[in-house]
Amino acid sequence: MTIPNCPVIAIDGPTASGKGTVAALVAARLGYHYLDSGAIYRVLAVAVEQSGLNPDSQVDLQQIIPMAANLPVHFHGERVLLNGADVSEVIRTEEAGVMASRLAVLPEVRAGLLQRQRDFRQSPGLVADGRDMGSVVFPDSFLKVFLTASAQVRAERRVKQIEGRGQQADFQAIYSDLMARDKRDSERAVAPLKPCEDALVLDCSNMTIDQVVVTILKWAQERI
Ligand code: C5P
Repeated sequence: MTIPNCPVIAIDGPTASGKGTVAALVAARLGYHYLDSGAIYRVLAVAVEQSGLNPDSQVDLQQIIPMAANLPVHFHGERVLLNGADVSEVIRTEEAGVMASRLAVLPEVRAGLLQRQRDFRQSPGLVADGRDMGSVVFPDSFLKVFLTASAQVRAERRVKQIEGRGQQADFQAIYSDLMARDKRDSERAVAPLKPCEDALVLDCSNMTIDQVVVTILKWAQERI
């Protein structure tokens, strides 16, 4: 297989499948850049919430669409800045995730964020995680992985993550939110969440992070 000048590994999958952690580790092992595309949707969600705009209102939507194309977001290592303000923590709340998924159904919003995501493709390579990395944003990725896990396991992992931050987590609420988000992400007309034809599907319900990373690195090695 021919590898384009700047190779991309696309890791897509449902929420809380562990793709963010895995993608960052694979990128570090290969010395590649890393794109957390969900963070971009989440930053937009925070910007929309801060402006008090409602994506269900046609009037507000006319202001939200240009916000997507001109989003003043910057990544500094682990820190994410919106208009210079640190939003690294607020973008990780469940509210931001839910708003992100409501915005993500809008084709104009997705189009507005497309180039911003493609700009992350820089030498020597990129590992990108999201929902449509392999299908829309980087269709020429040399490796496409669809990382999934059962809803039960994903909700348990999300609970651990929240508790790890010293916050309280309600399993039932998280489970229902995750199911609602999966449904919205899978049923939307534009770039729905599903494995693309040339993706390798990896169910990591019973795998450790390390096992997942090793599997993806092996697949990458086989293609290089
Ligand atoms: O991956 P994460 O949970 O941070 O993404 C938040 C939301 O942003 C997702 O539920 C999804 O609706 C949306 N998203 C998307 N396409 C991407 C990344 C995220 O639609 N590439």
